[in-house]
Amino acid sequence: MDHFLYRDGMLHAEDVPVADIAAAVGTPFYVYSTATLLRHFQLFDDALSWTDHLVCFAMKSLSNQAVLRVLAQAGAGMDVVSQGEYLRAKAAGVPGDRIVFSGVGKTAEEMRTALEGGIRQFNVESEPEMERLDQVARSLGCVAPITIRVNPDVDAKTHAKIATGKSENKFGIPISRAREVYAMAARLPGLRVIGIDVHIGSQLTELAPFEAAYKKVAELTEQLRADGHEISRLDLGGGLGIPYTRSNEAPPVPTDYGALIQRTVGHLGCEIEIEPGRLISGNAGLMVAKVIYVKSGEDRDFLILDGAMNDLIRPAMYEAWHDIVPVIEPQPGVEPTKYDIVGPVCESGDTFAKGREMPRLKPDDLVAFRSAGAYGAVMSSEYNSRLMIPEVLVHGDHLAVIRRRPTYEDMIARDTVPEWLA
Ligand code: LLP
Repeated sequence: MDHFLYRDGMLHAEDVPVADIAAAVGTPFYVYSTATLLRHFQLFDDALSWTDHLVCFAMKSLSNQAVLRVLAQAGAGMDVVSQGEYLRAKAAGVPGDRIVFSGVGKTAEEMRTALEGGIRQFNVESEPEMERLDQVARSLGCVAPITIRVNPDVDAKTHAKIATGKSENKFGIPISRAREVYAMAARLPGLRVIGIDVHIGSQLTELAPFEAAYKKVAELTEQLRADGHEISRLDLGGGLGIPYTRSNEAPPVPTDYGALIQRTVGHLGCEIEIEPGRLISGNAGLMVAKVIYVKSGEDRDFLILDGAMNDLIRPAMYEAWHDIVPVIEPQPGVEPTKYDIVGPVCESGDTFAKGREMPRLKPDDLVAFRSAGAYGAVMSSEYNSRLMIPEVLVHGDHLAVIRRRPTYEDMIARDTVPEWLA
């Protein structure tokens, strides 16, 4: 459920008409709903209420300061994967003891920043990373709390580019070698092993792969405890999928996911962490664009928008489906037509949808891409020297620009011309 509904024939973001936002900030833009963000966070928090837990928002999905504050003030922790994300989380007021640091390629500088600024734990992904972290922690005279990310070799049944839990993926250490690697970690004085981490992929639409992975983690917990390790925390990753179409998808909900966690690892008495991104932010955001032209091709009509693949890359990159709806509610009984919906970027890949049924539209009409809150703005670029688009947050009938559209002067001024070319 989200808070982007038609009211009086107009799409609203909570209590704000989307057309009013377009009039205020121009198009294209992203808009996020505070109520939806909070609702989704709360669903996870409630689903784990049976135990000690922390819901760490995977901020790679949406990292605007205002959004982080909404979630942090509700009690969320953050899952970060770079120094930039760590510093953004701190800047949004998230205490270090609510930040977990994931990622396969943490540098010494990133480790230092997090150790100095405070960190709940590092999720370590390899032996060389373990050695590096040990050195960095000792050089600072501290001990780094860690979990080790295991790769359970489970098929997440999702798009190949976002599956992470098979042995061919670069993530984690093979679960078959876990005991050996934990033994090595225990010998390093700069590290304190506190648990196990696992994350098998993103946009999972079934619970079975989670179940398979978590059962393996439960077995491993018992083994490692028998080997003498303290395993008091399980970080079970993110990945629960969302419905991208209104019609036929019904992925499992956080309540069922929480029950599955209880069933598979609940008996171990560990503190539970999860790292959901998409389910919290995905359906909390729209990207809104305007029709520039309707162009008749040989055998089809193209709807050419002012938003493009540089603003929302998911269709081009993952063949992802986003529902695209007109901002003025279609009248019942009006015959739809089919369009290829594209942006102005000079590549055929700049196609959002092919043969998509839409009501007939004309230049200056507004359309909204649903489910664009996660991996939308954060993956955008200035390709074709198109300006990054603004982000807006609504809260009831309040509206705030939380990232302004830069100017062309800003864009050009970022480059430096060497003296010999001036
Ligand atoms: N934890 C770790 C270690 C991750 O690598 C990820 C996502 C998450 C948590 C959050 O997963 P989520 O709950 O959002 O599924 N750009 C792609 C998705 C990439 C996901 C990368 N890792 C897309 O647009 O579909």
